[in-house]
Amino acid sequence: MVNSHKPKRIGILTSGGDCPGLNAVIRAVVKVATYKYGWDVYGIPYGTDGFIEVLLGKRQPEDLRIRDHGYDIPGLVQGLDILHFLSGSVLGSISKGDPELHADEIIRGYEKLGLTALIGMGGDGSIEILENLAQKAAEQGKAWNWVAVPKTIDNDIPFTEASVGFDTAVNRVTQALYDLTFTAASHDRVMLVQVMGRDAGYLALEAGIAGGADAILIPELTPILDESVVQGICHHIAQLHKHGRRFALVVVAEGVKNHLGQKEHYIGDYLAQRIQEYSSQSHNSDLPDSLSLPSLDTRVTLLGHLQRGGNPTSTDRLLATAFGREAVNLIANGNYNQMVIWQNGRVSSVPISRVIEQIKKGRREKKAPSCVDPQGFLVRTARDIGIYVGETSIDDQ
Ligand code: F6P
Repeated sequence: MVNSHKPKRIGILTSGGDCPGLNAVIRAVVKVATYKYGWDVYGIPYGTDGFIEVLLGKRQPEDLRIRDHGYDIPGLVQGLDILHFLSGSVLGSISKGDPELHADEIIRGYEKLGLTALIGMGGDGSIEILENLAQKAAEQGKAWNWVAVPKTIDNDIPFTEASVGFDTAVNRVTQALYDLTFTAASHDRVMLVQVMGRDAGYLALEAGIAGGADAILIPELTPILDESVVQGICHHIAQLHKHGRRFALVVVAEGVKNHLGQKEHYIGDYLAQRIQEYSSQSHNSDLPDSLSLPSLDTRVTLLGHLQRGGNPTSTDRLLATAFGREAVNLIANGNYNQMVIWQNGRVSSVPISRVIEQIKKGRREKKAPSCVDPQGFLVRTARDIGIYVGETSIDDQ
């Protein structure tokens, strides 16, 4: 039903690393904008690059229009409403380069499209870039109205309990842990699984708990893999052996650093090597039985970009739909420069300026913009069920 709101032309783009659920946001935006308000929606290809292409005439504005409630978006066939289920971004995304170097062209491209407002899906970096563009446009006396939709498998965006894509990634990692369990058990192995998340440990922690991990290492609790952490894991695994579990699943977040405090691309391999060295030294030493370790056989799985694949879960589809709807409603009410958020079981929004403050604070402190609470219920849950997260072993509990 089209109501009396003045027809508007809105743009939508995806920026930064893709994740499942982006297309479900696009679908929801197109449906609400079209059915409820009768507006036109323009899909900007490859993030802000699309504006430059429009300015240069490489793309014609009319070609970007997402018509007929989204049913003719590239990739849709036979009227199937598959945007709801597809991962990736049908608009394409960019995660390299510095769009701000081309701020003027981007702003002129936005103007050329005649947009009333833009919906930008992004993580912390993209939200900051888009806000800087908005500021720059304002300095030039131009309007760059926008609404942010938080998306990232890292779930590290301030103020929102969930970002689009996170739940699906948690499920992917959880499934991987399940899949590794039986081969680990068959060979009495220590399986190390390196998980994404950049500087945040949400993905490793939630999936580790859900997937039955024995140890979970996240930047918020074990920022550096020093000797005490390696020993702690090894002795924890030794205790598990004594209790009859002869294999172990160890989840290590990519944000955890080596003993020198440096990031490693392959922190899972690094940890496996340290565990192997420490356990074989202690196994071959003259230590009394109570202190000696079984010789641990390790294998590493780097899940990599598989964590960004897969069909979005129902939770992500619901979140994406609710976020898309809220973003359009904010624009309808002229409530711009807001980021939609999920808090306490419902959708609302916060001013982007507040989000940016937190992003900058995180950068100053060399931390993720939003971190796992070391005293929070997730960490306490992990500890209470005997998962090694840094300093306790199951016999100490
Ligand atoms: O921010 C999402 C994320 O998947 C991180 O977890 C990861 O560190 C990074 O992006 C990988 O980026 P790229 O796709 O550029 O390799």
